[in-house]
Amino acid sequence: MSAPAVLFVCLGNICRSPLAEAALRAEAAKMGLAVDVDSAGTGDWHVDCPPDTRAQAVAARHGIDISTYRGRQVTAADFRRFTHIFALDSDNLNNLRRIRPSDGGAALGLLMDVVPGREGSGVTDPYYGDAAGFDATWDDVTRAAMAIVKRLSSIRE
Ligand code: 4NP
Repeated sequence: MSAPAVLFVCLGNICRSPLAEAALRAEAAKMGLAVDVDSAGTGDWHVDCPPDTRAQAVAARHGIDISTYRGRQVTAADFRRFTHIFALDSDNLNNLRRIRPSDGGAALGLLMDVVPGREGSGVTDPYYGDAAGFDATWDDVTRAAMAIVKRLSSIRE
């Protein structure tokens, strides 16, 4: 079986999904799981931009440098390239359902559905809030990343 490939999708690809990408890379490395990881936005305002400085700061506080990440917009081809696509909230999930091509095989779902007790909830957009919002985002995406690693590891055993 080829390695799993996971894409995280939020609106701007500068706050939540880059943090989810960083968290999954870190958790997978810790557990020795080989997985392709990327992130994208449904919007195109921040294409080629680095993550929000507050997102860079929270990642750095956890020892991870995301300054080289660059924003990109999700494409129909992503549904063929990735095995799993996780939307950070239900608005983005609905938009992804709209652009999904008929031959797109990726499993598509809401990110927090993988966290017991958080099913159906979105990761709150911290963009218009303060730095504390980014800590909450980090906690959410780390919990989800741990659950994803657990799932992917058990599938591959
Ligand atoms: P993200 O946050 O979807 O978590 O990256 C946002 C970033 C930028 C905008 C909205 C949300 N924006 O409207 O520019």
